Amino acid sequence: MPFSPSRLVRTIMTSVTQETAPALAAAAGLTQKRVPIPSRGVDYRGKIVLAPMVRSGELPSRLLALHYGADLVWGPETVDRAMIGTTRRINSRTGCVEWTRVPTNNVKKEMFDESVIYRVDPVREAGRHIFQIGTSDPTRAVECAKLVAADVSGIDVNAGCPKPFSTHAGMGAALLRTPDKLVSILEALVAEIKPAFDIGISVKIRLLETPAETETLVRRLCATGITGLTIHCRTTPMRPRERAIRGQLRMVAGICHDYGVACVMNGDVEGRDHGLELMAEYGTDGAMIATCAEKNGSCFRAKADGGLATWEEAVAKYMRFAMEVENKFHNTKFMLTQMVPGKSPKYKELTPCKSYGKLVEVLGLTELEEMARKTDELMKLVTVEGSSGNDKSKVAETAGDEKKKNKNNLTNDVQQENLKRKRGDGDEEAEKQQPPPSTRINVSEAVEAAAVEQQSSQPVAAAVAAS
Ligand SMILES: Cc1cc2nc3c(=O)[nH]c(=O)nc-3n(C[C@H](O)[C@H](O)[C@H](O)COP(=O)(O)O)c2cc1C
Repeated sequence: MPFSPSRLVRTIMTSVTQETAPALAAAAGLTQKRVPIPSRGVDYRGKIVLAPMVRSGELPSRLLALHYGADLVWGPETVDRAMIGTTRRINSRTGCVEWTRVPTNNVKKEMFDESVIYRVDPVREAGRHIFQIGTSDPTRAVECAKLVAADVSGIDVNAGCPKPFSTHAGMGAALLRTPDKLVSILEALVAEIKPAFDIGISVKIRLLETPAETETLVRRLCATGITGLTIHCRTTPMRPRERAIRGQLRMVAGICHDYGVACVMNGDVEGRDHGLELMAEYGTDGAMIATCAEKNGSCFRAKADGGLATWEEAVAKYMRFAMEVENKFHNTKFMLTQMVPGKSPKYKELTPCKSYGKLVEVLGLTELEEMARKTDELMKLVTVEGSSGNDKSKVAETAGDEKKKNKNNLTNDVQQENLKRKRGDGDEEAEKQQPPPSTRINVSEAVEAAAVEQQSSQPVAAAVAAS
């Protein structure tokens, strides 16, 4: 009988039953083993995602990334101790879920009612937000995760931050050298959070020095029951400006696939199209973007859909999101210094701004003036003359001299950080990140800014995080 492809297909179709199909497909390499994704969780496969970034990954940055097409967004690393003891509330004006704490220090208490440690938009981030924990202890990790698990779609553990404040406390990249501890943290989260909240657990690591070391670690992590693993293609001692190395990537992806864990690649991914190309080339399931998204969140938009927007467009959208969610003023201003090119005349004009009104004026965003005025009033960024953000007028003295001092420090903070970055004499990533967790806890906006400034003028400046 002559060979007939259609008869062959018919024969196969009739002999394949529901029971035999998966085994046949697996044997033919058509499907991969997959750790089941919990019903409220998300699968990292096929996704281009926003990286966790302290400072640069606050809510407005995440909304910007989502607006331009990011599939998932990681929140900035939040240290377990900073979250434990916070109170969850819904902000009735914005609809956001906020975890707050009252400052313990009396002076700070007088100045600020409470400080927002973490903020989620339950509508716009629904199903797309991953919370990243900084931790070195399974019990604390679980305690922290329980506070947010009902409001997010996944819990990720940071095992890549190389900076002393993190590693001294046994967190971040220190966990790469204490794999037993890292495994116990992941196992505790998988056992206690995954079934109770129906979301997955993942981990973000760096490359180890040799492929053999990386392989051993990745195998152990994949066996814990995690659903995803992100590999930042740099080793711990590597600086952010050193090019990512991709030599071990196929091997890492292969191990993840053996265990049914989604593998996300990270390091020098420039945008959606680039991420998809790299995923195809190296066999990873997803790609994560940090630095390029920090500069312009529209990197998540495919070329076919318009590609990278101008910085002016991205900044205008960012400003609207920042005010909509009542983002801390100093964080908004800091982000603008990342998004507005240094060569633009507007860049210098941002430095003295002390209110949303003034930022909007400098950026020429007349359509946002009214929104800025209301935001300034709400955040008490108004001036004594009543016109918000006027440099000639004095900042309202409601909180006394200390508040004014802190506000000045705020400006210095941004200036110093950017100066160092531009000089390239520091670890750029480190300089953009937060103060050590000890200073983050119980500090409110201006006090926090002052603390960063104080840090950056001391040798411990290098202790600011970079993952
Ligand atoms: C400003 C900034 C803050 C970061 N904060 C975190 C963090 O909180 N947690 C983390 O795992 N990595 C953090 N990282 C590292 C990034 O997530 C990412 O791994 C790294 O920047 C490499 O990606 P890229 O080459 O796209 O920048 C941070 C990076 C930057 C630039």
